[in-house]
Amino acid sequence: MLDALSKSFFHALARSKRLEGMASRIGMAKPTSFARRFIAGETAEEAIEAAKTIQQKGMLLTLDQLGESITTLAGAEAATKVYLALIEKIQAAGIDRNISVKPTQLGLDIDQAVCIDNITRILGLAKQHDFFVRIDMENTPYIQKTLDMFTSVWSKGYRNTGVVLQSAVFRSEDDAKTVSKLGARVRLVKGAYKEPAALAHQAKADVDQAFVRIMKVLLKDGTYPAIATHDPAMLAATKAFAAEQGIPKEAYEFQMLYGIRRDLQAQLVADGYRMRIYVPFGRQWFPYFMRRLGERPANVGFVLKGILSDRG
Ligand code: FDA
Repeated sequence: MLDALSKSFFHALARSKRLEGMASRIGMAKPTSFARRFIAGETAEEAIEAAKTIQQKGMLLTLDQLGESITTLAGAEAATKVYLALIEKIQAAGIDRNISVKPTQLGLDIDQAVCIDNITRILGLAKQHDFFVRIDMENTPYIQKTLDMFTSVWSKGYRNTGVVLQSAVFRSEDDAKTVSKLGARVRLVKGAYKEPAALAHQAKADVDQAFVRIMKVLLKDGTYPAIATHDPAMLAATKAFAAEQGIPKEAYEFQMLYGIRRDLQAQLVADGYRMRIYVPFGRQWFPYFMRRLGERPANVGFVLKGILSDRG
């Protein structure tokens, strides 16, 4: 109950443009800034530096230029160009060639055809440079449109891309089977958005049970799935199922968010598992940051401590 309330509260804050503007002005101003625990910086250069440190620890990574809910075609065009430039910068830096994009950033909310065109441009350049492009999943109004967009590029022959499915959402169990049949890569997550009870599980236990069911489908019938969670119970269930089925560690990977459960990240690497870190960066970090706070109210204490120490 408290969890649901806190999730709603932080999601309401995440949508506040006024707070976003204020936060962007003060949040990253100092290198010790509170948001930096979860966000690798405001520029691609800062994110690439963070990425190099992650790679030195034996981890893989995916870079995410923050930004979502673009409301104009010009905004979607600008975001697409930023991603095209990012591909070139990553290539020049020699780090892991893997990026994550949000469909509403590329115009899904405005014009689906333009969005498909934008992702196709990104996939084209990505293919030339041997990049993998993960299409993040946003809240339920966008799921069908995102999967349609994905199917469209897949049917054009782009194989350097994959989707995300959320175990909280009822339809994901069927979607996991459909996407697995295609042979496409899935990242499995619990789901970061507050969803209606008609479309999604509300209790953590139900979200977790669905996660385990989908994980098993993906590990058995999917293509190189990514199990993205910080939950020790989900990690243990995945490792146990893979061992029981004789699925090698190279056949799947774990993923975690930058700055979250770094202890578990290091442990998985030490145990020989593949571990990919999702590295978000950019000026529009506020909604992402609010979702992370909503997942774990204890982070609020951490933030307050950060704000106070920033003043010192
Ligand atoms: P859960 O929320 O149950 O947390 C389990 C434990 O993890 C907690 O007890 C705590 O120890 C730790 N933890 C979790 N969140 C924390 C936080 N914010 N701060 C500190 N500790 C925390 N969602 C989505 O809807 N679409 C997407 O495309 C993606 N993409 C994505 C990529 C990657 C690589 C990851 C890891 C996650 C996503 N997500 C996502 C977010 C995902 O849906 C989910 O909201 C978070 O991963 C939190 O869920 P957990 O599985 O970690 O479990």
